[in-house]
Amino acid sequence: MSRRYSKASSPGKFILLGEHAVVYGKPAVALAIDKRFRCKISPSYGNFLNGMEMDLSRHPHIRHLMLRNRVNNISIETESNIPSSSGLGSSGALSSAISAAIKDLNNEIFNKEEIAKDSFSAEYHAQGRASPLDTSCCTFGNGVALNCPAECGKRLMSIEKDGNRWDINQISVPKMTFVVGYTGIKAPTGPLVNKVRKFKEHNRFASDIIDEIGKVTLEGVSSMMKNDIEQLGRRMTEDHKLLSILGVSCNELNKLVDASLQYSYGAKLTGSGGGGSMIALTDKPDKVCEAISLRGGTPFIVNTDVEGVKLEE
Ligand code: PMV
Repeated sequence: MSRRYSKASSPGKFILLGEHAVVYGKPAVALAIDKRFRCKISPSYGNFLNGMEMDLSRHPHIRHLMLRNRVNNISIETESNIPSSSGLGSSGALSSAISAAIKDLNNEIFNKEEIAKDSFSAEYHAQGRASPLDTSCCTFGNGVALNCPAECGKRLMSIEKDGNRWDINQISVPKMTFVVGYTGIKAPTGPLVNKVRKFKEHNRFASDIIDEIGKVTLEGVSSMMKNDIEQLGRRMTEDHKLLSILGVSCNELNKLVDASLQYSYGAKLTGSGGGGSMIALTDKPDKVCEAISLRGGTPFIVNTDVEGVKLEE
């Protein structure tokens, strides 16, 4: 470690289709959004986070990345406009940007594949179980599809874990408008992933729902590739119903989804659920924003086609 400091940033993301089922190797698609996590890391005489001594047991992602990259005694300053525990990839973006900055501080060549592996490992250990969906989207940016047909975009890399294999493709995404509705309820990912795991272990029905989410995702991806936005919207709404049966939605999410549907092609929860956020695919974003606000959510229009992890000056 000879550098004075390194800076990096990564985007947040939303999951278009396939969350939870992707943990079991099913297909999924995520899109990067124009909200970013930024960090600056410098060598120090202890470990500090935003000027305070860092208790690493409270920051499992950072702890994992420091151990994996053999760094100690660093000061990290962070800044983010991605709401935390909201289904918008705050921990994926944090892992990806911190990995990039640590590697740069170690004078390693900037390599997105290594950063994607590093940040997936951090997410996996912090969450107990995870797919590489969030971390690969926050790292590679734009749109990523996991375990979708080979003709969907360009193969970036593959990752294997727990008997699952994920083939990760970069996809080009047609121009679409999405509104995110944040419930204001913070819902950490780990417990929801665990809830689905237990349901799946004790009930064959859960596996059927997971298979069904996989099918709906593939249909949605195929519609998106044909630029058939109406069909894509329908698949999103179907996915929301399946996720509700899986037990990861909640009243607040359902209210925002229902309110958006009158002005949208489709709407669904995004991310792990239990609170957090929903998304609507629409060409009437102002109407959807109004409907979400009226039901107590915080709406914002997101832009996609966003760059992944990058080193900053
Ligand atoms: O809520 P988020 O943004 O952490 O998304 C989690 C997505 C899951 O499929 C539920 C878990 C995973 O690791 O893929």
